[in-house]
Amino acid sequence: MSTVIQGHFQHGGDDLLFAKIANDLEAQGYCVVPIGLPEKMISLLAEQVRKDADHFDEAGVGRGTDSIQNSFVRRDKIAWIEGKTEAEKLWLNWTNDLRLYLNRRLLLGLFSFESHFACYEPSAFYRKHLDAFRGQANRILSTVLYLNSGWLPEEGGELQMYNFDNEPLLKVTPQCGSLVVFLSEEFPHEVLPASRHRYSVAGWYRLNQSINGVIDPPT
Ligand code: OGA
Ligand code: MN
Repeated sequence: MSTVIQGHFQHGGDDLLFAKIANDLEAQGYCVVPIGLPEKMISLLAEQVRKDADHFDEAGVGRGTDSIQNSFVRRDKIAWIEGKTEAEKLWLNWTNDLRLYLNRRLLLGLFSFESHFACYEPSAFYRKHLDAFRGQANRILSTVLYLNSGWLPEEGGELQMYNFDNEPLLKVTPQCGSLVVFLSEEFPHEVLPASRHRYSVAGWYRLNQSINGVIDPPT
């Protein structure tokens, strides 16, 4: 399991955090950062998701116009992040810095980043899935940032990750400020039901898939 990063790294210390993420990705394909992201960014994101969640849309399964609502697979409600608020700007800047760092260190060629807020109501879930399918090379790296203060073990709602042989690998408590990063094609995962509202930001780094003048992603 990952070591805890101390809070004092957060002041101008993103490079230490980014180095840990790069090292863990290289060694095991995933990384859990329990603490250390910029505090202001986390608190503004947490504030916004609570304020806006009543107006979120039911999430779909699949991409773009193929996306269908499938309440058997997932029951979260989402809103895409477009950089309209200070919280969103801080997040997009931070994830862009991480993108550039990972490209330098791991030569991943990450081109773009898409992310959305998610709200899972009590007993909502997202069944076991992969964020990308081998060969399609659409989503390379997945991120999930949690925005729930004081989460108790008995409240459930963990991210359960599996290895490629579908054996349980680790459970992550959706505690405020925790970040999970993993290779999108490698790790099946699911969101277990919780007894309270569960807030997060899910995001994906992608390669440049633009071909024949068609811009990807389409939206
Ligand atoms: C997703 C997802 C995990 C989580 O949105 O694709 O798997 O812990 N989220 O919220
Ligand atoms: Mn997922």
